[in-house]
Amino acid sequence: MNMHKWPNEGVLVAPSILAADFAHLAEDTEESLKAGGDLLHIDVMDGHFVPNLTLGPALVKSLRAALPDAFLDVHLMVQDPASFAGPFIEAGADHVSFHVEPIGLDACIALAERIRALGATAGITINPPTPAEAILPALEAFDLALVMSVNPGFGGQAFIPQVLDKVRTIAPLLCPGQRLEMDGGIAPATAQAARDAGCDVLVAGSAIFGLPQADRAAAIHTLRGS
Ligand code: DX5
Ligand code: ZN
Repeated sequence: MNMHKWPNEGVLVAPSILAADFAHLAEDTEESLKAGGDLLHIDVMDGHFVPNLTLGPALVKSLRAALPDAFLDVHLMVQDPASFAGPFIEAGADHVSFHVEPIGLDACIALAERIRALGATAGITINPPTPAEAILPALEAFDLALVMSVNPGFGGQAFIPQVLDKVRTIAPLLCPGQRLEMDGGIAPATAQAARDAGCDVLVAGSAIFGLPQADRAAAIHTLRGS
């Protein structure tokens, strides 16, 4: 399995494919990378942990074949992430984030070990109502912390600014090489607050795929603050 290393340092912008055109997914997502996207954020939903259903390993396998050089960041919004991490890595995922809420911190630590053993990197995710304290005791077990800025399940929702306090708590505790990702409602109006609080990976769906291709590069530039 030829895993990709995380893209370069600095603030990374991750187009969320949930907002892409699923009927032309490879073309639409490739365009978002050509427009400056650093990696692709792939939202997996099981209709149980979140009230929506999206995609499985077969889609990631096809996307990997179409985009062999893309860094694929898979976000598991599922009740049983331990059952799906392996198949998504096998399909081509370079990174797998999963939620602490359905399985608890001890199981998350074990799952992160397994994900790393498979050659991918592992991210722990907390929903807006979940306090940062739910993951602070074991931050070193993960390569990334993902702080949700919307309640998961759908793109196009409004950013929840209260979650920024959790970012300010977590960011100083991370070691070099660990990343802090924010996901949900990231747009030109909210990206700077996320960066200033300490996020260095910004997921954006509607703020990128909701734009005509010609406007995406400028939008990604603005989100990155470059
Ligand atoms: C929500 C997903 C997000 C979402 C982002 O459950 O995890 O990645 O697709 O979409 P926007 O950027 O439109 O909020
Ligand atoms: Zn996501």
